[in-house]
Amino acid sequence: MGSKEKELFKVDDRLRSVAIIMDGNGRWAKKRLMPRTFGHKAGAAIIEKTLMTLKEMGVHHVTLYAFSTENWKRPKEEVDVIMNLVYKYLDEVVCDRIRKDPDFSMKFLGDKNALPEKLREKCIEVENMAKDTPFVCNLALNYGGRDDIVHAANELVRLGLPITEENISKYIYTAPSPDPDLIIRTGGDFRVSNFLLWQGAYSEYVILDTLWPDFSYEDIEKSFKEFYSRKRRFGGLNEGEEE
Ligand code: IPE
Ligand code: IPE
Ligand code: MG
Repeated sequence: MGSKEKELFKVDDRLRSVAIIMDGNGRWAKKRLMPRTFGHKAGAAIIEKTLMTLKEMGVHHVTLYAFSTENWKRPKEEVDVIMNLVYKYLDEVVCDRIRKDPDFSMKFLGDKNALPEKLREKCIEVENMAKDTPFVCNLALNYGGRDDIVHAANELVRLGLPITEENISKYIYTAPSPDPDLIIRTGGDFRVSNFLLWQGAYSEYVILDTLWPDFSYEDIEKSFKEFYSRKRRFGGLNEGEEE
């Protein structure tokens, strides 16, 4: 990822929470005249390196969109390959990472009940290995932004709590991670695809043409520089804009 040769771009408190829509695996494979699943394998293979680079750059919360509530519509063979790849990644890479790195933990966003049993158990195991570490990866698996809000609202009803913005923010899947400052989408499509509808209310978006398996350090640096060139207003005005 080129991170060793040149000095790493470091983030400050304006950019501690980053989310990525990891899109374009199928097109990456098609370009190579290979089945879509070949792209998913290549895409899974770069996740670890990406997370470690983001951690080194000073990001504290990374939310990755791995599988949406709508992705079940895909052929069963493709879904099975994705589920197996996630299992393998958790079993072979993430468990080891958590054992070695006291600063790292992983959480899963979405209803685990729909996942294959073996994967569901692995997710629970991973979540129980470490919690609330300085660096957290939220892996969105069977995740939908609408489902997230409905789930939070149901939790509030169950607990008899008032439905307020503050309470929903406490019970959405990403809590206690802060809302993403930046959402990067690879694959070039300008749409949200049901990702972080609540949390992304004021996130900056960067859309990259890079297909996910080709995502590199240069793409991260480019996205971060673009983020720092933007003026965030959160509906208000910045200093000097009042007149
Ligand atoms: C993203 O890549 C991975 C998942 C949605 C699981 P795609 O499989 O959507 O790849 P494209 O967008 O068809 O190229
Ligand atoms: C979004 O990509 C979901 C993930 C990257 C996991 P999709 O490929 O599912 O989105 P659409 O269908 O192009 O909107
Ligand atoms: Mg896609």
